[in-house]
Formats: sequence, structure tokens, C-alpha cells
Amino acid sequence: MIIAIDGPAASGKGTIARQLASVYGLHHLDTGILYRAVAKAVLDAGRSPDDTAQAIAAAISLDPATFDESALKAQKITEAASVVAAIPEVRQALMNYQREFATRPPGAVLDGRDIGTVIAPGADVKLFVVASPEVRAARRARELAARGEPVDEKDVLADLLRRDERDSRRTAAPFKAAPDAHLLDTTHLSIDAAFRAAVDIIEAVRTGRERR
Ligand code: C5P
Repeated sequence: MIIAIDGPAASGKGTIARQLASVYGLHHLDTGILYRAVAKAVLDAGRSPDDTAQAIAAAISLDPATFDESALKAQKITEAASVVAAIPEVRQALMNYQREFATRPPGAVLDGRDIGTVIAPGADVKLFVVASPEVRAARRARELAARGEPVDEKDVLADLLRRDERDSRRTAAPFKAAPDAHLLDTTHLSIDAAFRAAVDIIEAVRTGRERR
């Protein structure tokens, strides 16, 4: 089974994806980590994230086995990740890895921005997870504070909106819901309730298939 989960930052998609993978015994890939790793490689080389040649070279030579996920979640990498993610050749270089990951037995849960539309358009179930920008900013600010990166919630909100806009407007794999994705709004849901709602959708899709 392949489960595709797309959504904006701090919508809850990552937590839902991790829990689903654990319950259904599937592999899990947070695809944002790949774009973050490209951004970090470019920044570490002392270059700007809009240095297209540098970003493409970093994407081609990326080795997911060496990732330090915690370091990649740092706020300073976030904005740069969305800049390199708009470069078509960067997306192309990361595509095979994601597609191969998706088809590893017994299946996988992938979360990102283009999973249901580009990476796994044939996924068994697609979720599009959303939440209001204010709630997402509050969640992200709490997450960053817990990492020892205290931030002003207003700045986080502005950053989220800027990133949503850049991710949705780019021409290469713009962030949008697949037509057959199931919408899950977590604005007023606890982590537990959001997870249960995701399971309900998946089970409804599976039952519907068995009946056919
Ligand atoms: O999910 P996360 O916030 O870690 O993603 C960082 C950035 O990576 C996003 O803002 C987006 O620009 C990019 N991304 C993407 N496609 C994906 C996953 C992430 O373009 N599938």
C-alpha cells in the first residue's frame, strides 16, 4: 500500500504520516528532508540558495543515508529549502529516489507537497492535510521553542505564508491537492483525533475497494 500525504508546513502531515507508517507497518519518507538537505549543502558551501548550478549539483550528489534529520529541521534552512525546491532540475534529481522508496515492499507513506500529484499519482490513498495559518504558526513556534530556537509567532506566520505562496506558485510541481485527494482539516483536532480521522479515511477507501 502507498499512502500519499501532502500539506503545508505544520499542518500535521508529518506526525500523521509517521503514525500511519507505524500502525500499517509501512516505510515512511518525509520528502521535505531531501529539499532541506540540498539547501543545507548549498549554504554550507557558502553559496546562495538561488545559485541554481550549485543546488542542482548538490541534489545530484545527495546521499540520504548521511542525513542528520534534526540539523535539517533548523529554521535557517527552511526558507532556503523552498527556494531550491522551485528549481526543476533539483526536483528531477530527487524524483527517482522518492519513487523507488514508494515502491519498496511492503509499501510506504510519503509526505510532502507533490506526492499525490507527481511522485505517486497512483497511490492507494491520498490525503491533503490543511490547517489555518494561525494554528500552523502557533504549532511551528512551539516546535522551534522546544528545539531551543525561540521565535516570534508573527515572524513564523509570515514565513509560513511566504513559503506557501512560493511553493504554490512555482511552475515545477506546484503545491496543490490531487483531484482524488481526501481533505483533512486539523485546525481544531488534537494529534490523536487527526490521526484517527486519517485512519477513518484510509479504512473507508480500503472498504470501498473491497466492495467493488
Ligand atoms: O515539509 P518541509 O517544511 O520540511 O519542506 C521544506 C520545503 O521543501 C517546502 O517549503 C517545499 O518548498 C519543499 N518541498 C517540496 N516538495 C516536497 C516536500 C518539500 O517542494 N515534496
